[in-house]
Amino acid sequence: MVTVNLRTKSPKAKISKLPPTLDVDTTGTVKDLAAAISKATQLGLERIRLTLIDNTVLVPDTPLDKYDLQDNSIIYVKDLGYQIDWQTVFYVEYGGPLFIHLLFYFLQKPIYGKTFEHSATQKAVFYMVILHFLKRELETMFVHRFSNATMPLINIFKNSGHYWVLSGFSLAYFCYGPSPRRDLPGYLFYGLIAFWAYSEVSNFITHLILSSLRPKGTRVRKIPYGYGFNFVACPNYFFEACSWLAVTLLTRSWAATLFLIVSSVTMFLWSLKKQAAYKKEFGAKYPKNRKAMFPFIA
Ligand SMILES: NC(=O)c1ccc[n+]([C@@H]2O[C@H](COP(=O)([O-])OP(=O)(O)OC[C@H]3O[C@@H](n4cnc5c(N)ncnc54)[C@H](OP(=O)(O)O)[C@@H]3O)[C@@H](O)[C@H]2O)c1
Repeated sequence: MVTVNLRTKSPKAKISKLPPTLDVDTTGTVKDLAAAISKATQLGLERIRLTLIDNTVLVPDTPLDKYDLQDNSIIYVKDLGYQIDWQTVFYVEYGGPLFIHLLFYFLQKPIYGKTFEHSATQKAVFYMVILHFLKRELETMFVHRFSNATMPLINIFKNSGHYWVLSGFSLAYFCYGPSPRRDLPGYLFYGLIAFWAYSEVSNFITHLILSSLRPKGTRVRKIPYGYGFNFVACPNYFFEACSWLAVTLLTRSWAATLFLIVSSVTMFLWSLKKQAAYKKEFGAKYPKNRKAMFPFIA
């Protein structure tokens, strides 16, 4: 048994009723410790995140003796706020663009004031976007194995804002209008569609590889190998960016360009974090020459 100090990182994040110290049985798990804090603070267990002074996250099912807690060790407690099921967030954020593209593609008269024949590019982009987001919904249902059951409620607004506005409203409105850009010559047009299909299938394969690393119902994390993983930490992000690059080149629209830039920068920043986390967790076992997202570059 040790007595640890409980703190919040900043006065702003203060948790009322958080006891300053707690007696902890170090033969238990992080979940037991979080449950004791949950009982004292009346916050739901899923809202509590615990870290050590060096920012190490205390992972819920891990035995406490892994963290070498001593008397007076400091544990930072964070209230993550109201939580929502991870899958619900994904269904909502990908469902939005699906609905929005259907609306803008089929409701020409109320939206653009007239009816007209869609160009070959508009037709192709419509099916590409619908297939992309359907794939994402199905992957959420059947492939991904998330380590956290929930995420902060606020994420549903942040994430949906990104997809609904940038890949939903702006992309759909400007892509399906009455004066589209001229279709590219056949070899470029079909070449870009083939490149898109290759990127989507590759993205799917990387998701299958990630899912195969984690037995169902666990939070196991392993070093992924094979396919794009031998070159970068996040080939799933790389192939996702490639697929939006194909859409951007087909449409040559500022709306697709904007989404490509924002999403690629976001995924690149995430990949740097994931790369750093792999290095921290797996040390020398993690392949040295692997880049974060862009093969041979960064
Ligand atoms: N267009 C855009 O703006 C954009 C932005 C982001 C993502 N996306 C798309 O959405 C997809 C999913 O994104 P994401 O950020 O959730 O991808 P991710 O963090 O790479 O994870 C995908 C799944 O694999 C699990 N996972 C990751 N690394 C693992 C490891 N080493 N061992 C075991 N399991 C592991 C994750 O679980 P946990 O993380 O829960 O542990 C998650 O369930 C991306 O691949 C991309 O296609 C698009």
